[in-house]
Amino acid sequence: MSKITAAITAVGAYVPDYVLTNDILATMVDTNDEWITSRTGIKERRILKDKDKGSSFLGIKAAEDLIAKKNVDPKEIDMVIFATATPDLPVASTAAYTASQIGAVNAFSYDLQAACSGFLYGMSTAASYIESGRYKKVLLIGADKMSSIIDYKDRTTCIIFGDGGGAALFEPNNEGLGLQDEYLRSDGIGREFLRIEAGGSILPTSEETLAKKLHFVRQDGKTVFKYAVSNMADASTKIMERNNLTGDDVDWLIAHQANKRIIDATSNRMNLDQSKVLMNIERYGNTTSATLPLLLSDYEKQFKKGDTLIFASFGGGFTWGSIYLKWAYNS
Ligand code: UT7
Repeated sequence: MSKITAAITAVGAYVPDYVLTNDILATMVDTNDEWITSRTGIKERRILKDKDKGSSFLGIKAAEDLIAKKNVDPKEIDMVIFATATPDLPVASTAAYTASQIGAVNAFSYDLQAACSGFLYGMSTAASYIESGRYKKVLLIGADKMSSIIDYKDRTTCIIFGDGGGAALFEPNNEGLGLQDEYLRSDGIGREFLRIEAGGSILPTSEETLAKKLHFVRQDGKTVFKYAVSNMADASTKIMERNNLTGDDVDWLIAHQANKRIIDATSNRMNLDQSKVLMNIERYGNTTSATLPLLLSDYEKQFKKGDTLIFASFGGGFTWGSIYLKWAYNS
């Protein structure tokens, strides 16, 4: 009997309407369009302005886009994985709420937190459930309302992040297409350099933590940048080497959109022609768990059945890795 492989068979996405440009940010903090563009590649990001809506709203919209595009019956979805660093509530699964809202009434569901690598790790999880033969339709969502944890007075973080959501459906494939190999890693040293200090079990929210603004995300950008460049490039070249892939064999690089310079460094190490390096960072910034599925949705029409895709990400924790996947359909 041939091995079951797990293929992506549909994608969907959603970004909120409000556009926060570099010029608007320059009225809020001491920065300018030239600095942000040259240091990060970002021109604008989307922000979910509604105070009463959380990441589930972004994920639900992305899932609904996928369901409508591919005419999926939500009742047939076996499980929903919701990758997010900004759950609706600290307790009560965002995935469970989302699954109910999209009509996936026969699914079980859970949240997955791996910061910017949430979707990449989720691909591994979704594929494993399919490969096991136990489930036939696994919906992976990556969505983050990053604006809910950003201090818009801190110019070192507010220029980077944006809000968005994306989704991908994983199903069994009998032609050997889908996920081929993965190289996933983590290193707890990272929590020193990128984190939200308060609101967790070590330092619960208090008047003092609020006054010190410890409920916002902070990072040592330079250090994170260094780790991101070396680890994302290492992971991507490792997965190419062990699958005997050269730059010519790779059709598309789907890399986490945190900083254009990190993506450039990775694609250079992989010897990739720039036309194969997918980017939308200029329009959305870093949407954490949503960057990879937003790229899939934006570029879906260019992918051909059998194309070789390399996914790569790096994020808080630290968490990082690379996945080799063969695309399974023509749009
Ligand atoms: O998704 C995974 C997690 N995050 C990342 O992967 C992000 C990794 N880090 C980065 O992308 C970059 O480190 C940043 C974009 C955050 C910062 O870029 P950088 O080139 O590393 O700048 P820097 O922190 O070394 O700062 C250089 C200078 C500093 O001024 P001085 O000390 O040289 O006078 C900063 O104060 O730029 C200043 N600066 C700014 N200036 C204008 C910092 N932020 C800004 C700003 N506008 N927004």
